[in-house]
Parts: sequence; C-alpha cells; structure tokens
Amino acid sequence: MPGNDVILVVDNVHATYNHAITALHGVSFELRRGEFLALLGANGAGKSTTLKAVSNLLPAERGQINAGAIGFEGGDVSHRRPGDLVRAGLVQVLEGRHCFKSLTVEENLVSGGIGRSGRRAEINQDLQRIYDFFPRLAEKRRTLAGLTSGGEQQMTAIGRALMSRPRLLVLDEPSMGLAPLVVQDIFLALKKLNRETGLSILVAEQNSAVALKYADHATVLENGVSVLTGAAADLRQREDMRAFYLGQQASPATQPTHLHAVA
Ligand SMILES: Nc1ncnc2c1ncn2[C@@H]1O[C@H](COP(=O)(O)OP(=O)(O)OP(=O)(O)O)[C@@H](O)[C@H]1O
Ligand SMILES: [Mg+2]
Repeated sequence: MPGNDVILVVDNVHATYNHAITALHGVSFELRRGEFLALLGANGAGKSTTLKAVSNLLPAERGQINAGAIGFEGGDVSHRRPGDLVRAGLVQVLEGRHCFKSLTVEENLVSGGIGRSGRRAEINQDLQRIYDFFPRLAEKRRTLAGLTSGGEQQMTAIGRALMSRPRLLVLDEPSMGLAPLVVQDIFLALKKLNRETGLSILVAEQNSAVALKYADHATVLENGVSVLTGAAADLRQREDMRAFYLGQQASPATQPTHLHAVA
C-alpha cells in the first residue's frame, strides 16, 4: 500500500479505444504529494491517454481501461465521475488551451469555480492569487479571451483550473504552439505554484528540455509503456534518453564524429 504522501498511483494500466486500438499496455508511476512530475514521450506514446485515464475521461472518447488501476488519494478514479474528481481536487487542463473566447479573461477565470463556494469575497481572493502568479492576466482581465495571445489563453486555462482549488493539477502539453519565452513563463509560474503552495503537478510534455528543467521527476512513455522513471536532474544528463525514447536528436556535440557529413 502506498503511504499517505502518495497522491496519485498509476498501476500497470492498459487502455484501448473502441475496444480495438491499444493505446496503453503497462503504464505505472507514482506522484507524491507536493511533487512536480513530467510525463514524457514522443508523438502517440500515450501521454494524453494516460492523463485522460487519470481524470476518468476515457469513456467519453470510447476508450476504456482494460487492466490495472489508478488511485487518487487512495480511491479508485474509475468509480468516480470526472466532475466529482474535480470537486475532490483533481483538475485537468486539457490540450489546446480551452477558453471561452467571447468571455473576458476574468469571466473565464470565474467560470472555473466548480466545487467551491460562490461567495464574492472568496472569488476575489482567488482571482487575486491567480493574478499574482500570472501578472499578464491582471493586465488583460477585461479583454475578451479570444483577443489575447496564445500564451495568455494558456495562462487563462490554467488560471481557470486553479479557481477550483486543486490539490493535483494535471496539464496536457501546456507548451504546445507557444514561443519558447512564453513556455518558460508558464513553467516558471507552475514551478512557483508548486513550491509556494505545495500543489502537486502532473504535466505531459513532448518538450522534454523544458519539462526536465522545471519538474522534480519524470516518467518516459514509449509505445504505451512506461520505460523509465527518475529524477529530472538525472534524466537531463542522458542524451541517449532523448534520442531513444523521445525521437529527438542528441545535441551535435555528443554525436559520434563519423556521422558528420563529408563535403
Ligand atoms: N480518441 C481516440 N480514438 C482512437 N485512438 C486514439 C484516440 N486517441 C488516441 N488514440 C491512439 O492512442 C495512441 C496514444 O495516443 P495519445 O494521444 O495518448 O499519445 P500522446 O503521447 O498524447 O501523443 P501526442 O504527443 O501526439 O499528443 C495513439 O496510437 C493514438 O493514435
Ligand atoms: Mg497528447
């Protein structure tokens, strides 16, 4: 049995879509309370499927868990509706920075208050906390979300998730389609949230460089299987990990010289 300090346990999960397509066949990892864990893997490795399984969102996509189990704070997530999981503190920011484009940034944030009191004073307090973490959102609070930049929309989506006061925040590819400096801003804010409030974070990323810079630990998926787990600082040193599992080039300095092109 995992101890109290483990908030999420993913234990040998197998999952399929349409009873036919196998997406996961053996994914395991644990996330300790207060930890920032990155889930890495190339295109199609199973990152999004794993995150959807964690929030019990697979049935909505004709997907299912066929074996294994996922526990959040000791309870099996497959017995709980996604909305109940949000109320219990497990909140996910789906891929693609979903905002209501015709609402203002602040209206988007307020709309995220599922599972909490609707008292105006409390809402204002939470809004202020989010504006402290994302000062750009404070500047844009009265702007329609659809008119803000991609980075600001991602921050709005994260801020909306924070309005339901999660204990575990799950994010799918927050870096996608954003400029490198904006990606750094977002990960810095996540790290700050993690450090200062003790929020546990699980983030799926193809961008292993940035994820390994900010996360404490990482688990690597390859073709639906978790193949490697370790401290981010250790994995950062391993060029082979990027080349083998993530489909990325090792940096030129570490490539064998005989592979250099001849003129
Ligand atoms: N809704 C779906 N229906 C059927 N198959 C799916 C569905 N979603 C994902 N798959 C398949 O499941 C496997 C894992 O996909 P998944 O989206 O979890 O990978 P990923 O690691 O998130 O990839 P990416 O980095 O491209 O987002 C892939 O083979 C994919 O084609
Ligand atoms: Mg994905």
